[in-house]
Amino acid sequence: MIVYGGDWNPEQWPEETWAEDVRLMGQAGVNHVSLGIFSWSMLEPVEGRYEFGRLDRIMDLLAGGGIRAYLSTPTASPPPWFGQRYPEALPVDADGRRLWHGSRQAFCPSSPAYLDKALAVAEQLGRRYRDHPALAMWHVHNEYGCHNSRCYCDTSAAAFRAWLAERHGSLDAVNDAWGTAFWSQRYSEWEQILPPRITPSYTNPGQQLDFHRFSSDALLALYRAERDLLRSLSPGVPATTNFMAGYHWDMDYWAFAEEVDVVSTDQYLFGDDPHIDLAFAADLTRSFKRDRPWLLMEHSTSAVNWQGYNRAKAPGEMHRNSVQHLARGADAIMFFQWRQSKAGAEKWHSAMLPHAGTDTKIWREVVALGDLLGEAADVAGSSVEADVAILLDWSSIWAQDHPAQPTSELKPVEEIKRWHAALWRLGVTCDLAHPEGDLSRYRLVLVPSLYLVTDAGAANLERFVAGGGVALVGPYSGIVDEHDKVRLGGYPGAWRELLGVTVEEFFPLAAGETVTLAGGGAGAVWSEVARATTASVLDTYASGGPAWTRNEHGQGAAHYLTTLFTGPERVLSAVCAEAGVRFGGTPGVELVRRSHPDGRSFLFAVNHTGTDAVVPAKGSTLDGAEVDGELAVPAGAVRIVREAR
Ligand code: GAL
Ligand code: ZN
Repeated sequence: MIVYGGDWNPEQWPEETWAEDVRLMGQAGVNHVSLGIFSWSMLEPVEGRYEFGRLDRIMDLLAGGGIRAYLSTPTASPPPWFGQRYPEALPVDADGRRLWHGSRQAFCPSSPAYLDKALAVAEQLGRRYRDHPALAMWHVHNEYGCHNSRCYCDTSAAAFRAWLAERHGSLDAVNDAWGTAFWSQRYSEWEQILPPRITPSYTNPGQQLDFHRFSSDALLALYRAERDLLRSLSPGVPATTNFMAGYHWDMDYWAFAEEVDVVSTDQYLFGDDPHIDLAFAADLTRSFKRDRPWLLMEHSTSAVNWQGYNRAKAPGEMHRNSVQHLARGADAIMFFQWRQSKAGAEKWHSAMLPHAGTDTKIWREVVALGDLLGEAADVAGSSVEADVAILLDWSSIWAQDHPAQPTSELKPVEEIKRWHAALWRLGVTCDLAHPEGDLSRYRLVLVPSLYLVTDAGAANLERFVAGGGVALVGPYSGIVDEHDKVRLGGYPGAWRELLGVTVEEFFPLAAGETVTLAGGGAGAVWSEVARATTASVLDTYASGGPAWTRNEHGQGAAHYLTTLFTGPERVLSAVCAEAGVRFGGTPGVELVRRSHPDGRSFLFAVNHTGTDAVVPAKGSTLDGAEVDGELAVPAGAVRIVREAR
């Protein structure tokens, strides 16, 4: 089945509401809820005193209604007694300010007191509900790091030192990795090492990078501790924790994905083309565990309440969003939250059941979506077809995030999203891949912006090309090693040979400045003086010098760009053609295919335009209408076709 539902937070409502909730869930086709995410102060109102009566009744109601629970450990939001009793466990920011309780996620990720209390409540929950018929999966915590991803307190400082000792082996090795001989930063005792707290000038880049890595690991360790406990109490019950893939970059989700049984994520609309940004988030989430379905744990039926200006969704938009996720590999479509709050911090956030009740656009769309997903049950378990991958790595993003760079305008995540968006416009579905990951299934690998690459990552791309793949590398990639140390001898040090290019100097462009390209269009943000050693030059700056090169390497070829092409479609369509990746289609109409190993496949069509469209398809629609070559997709509509191939 396709899972359908949302966060149910019944503790904010009187008990009389609960039965109505479950009845309406049935009406909407809801089959799962995420439960208890913010229930810690209900379950443990006073330290050490547990009260499960209300949750017992809630779980029983769900079981009675045939609805299953992703039962959450409530550890994302410790109750006020925690801050009162353990003030040293509250998080501290880089300026040294203590953050108090009164919202959520007020805890230091490295605090032993927090871990202790979190495991205690998780254990109570695990013991009580491990055999409950409503339990489907453990939803551990909620969005690790959403508000407290980096803590700069003394406890975190000590944990950082222990992490460094483990990673580097010795203080000398830390000094060497960070290049502390410069600016007189050499550490002579471990105790001198601090988190990168506020300093008179730039902090050391190696220190900052390692602190980002440590902070992500500290959160992951919290997840593992809860998961291990739950696993021991309930062997066989899967566990997940919901990511914020595509819009929160403090947690290394490649590493998190290794530890969850099922990948799940939350996604909210951003930017000028939010449906393309959505596609990016979905593609990234799918890529964490390739060929395994993932769960969209949260999105919104309409407006959120945390973006300053919060746009409500147009009629049909929520269906398009949902089907986009489904098309890109989600086997669950869920929302924050089931019933819109009457009080509290999120009362202006949309929900499945709005303030105005059931005679509303939102409710009608929620019910219709339940029907649609009910009919799409055989999609579950299928995987998405993609021949292209974009390399992405957190260490590189974090390293480039240091303020002392050639320009602050070259932003890796934006550049990766810009190439992904161009592919989306070309109608090409792509994965994201770890630089050291298995690339053998792809025809084309793109490297829009990968400042830091390990030796293993550098060799991986070379192997891919040597074996017959086509690669396209953007500027300022392959520049530093895993410690953020420059690879010497000419840029891009890691891939000079692969690309057949050597670069002497960077010439970042001023804000708004562009350079004209001989082949048409312009470059922005960045330029460099490159010399083609073995590469051929495909485009130049109007003033001379390579802008786009191509180098044959083994059985394949590697392209390189020395500036940010303002219309990357020109280059991307060329490399797609060279790699044998099909592109084209109807502008604004998203087409994605999912297929089962036995050959059954589904074509998803989402028309994001205001014009009716017709796309090629063969098979039958979910409601059984035959499609013989042409599928009508009206303006703003979604269609799913069971293909006859
Ligand atoms: C998520 C969070 C939810 C809710 C939602 C609102 O970050 O997990 O609890 O706050 O945002 O958009
Ligand atoms: Zn701390």
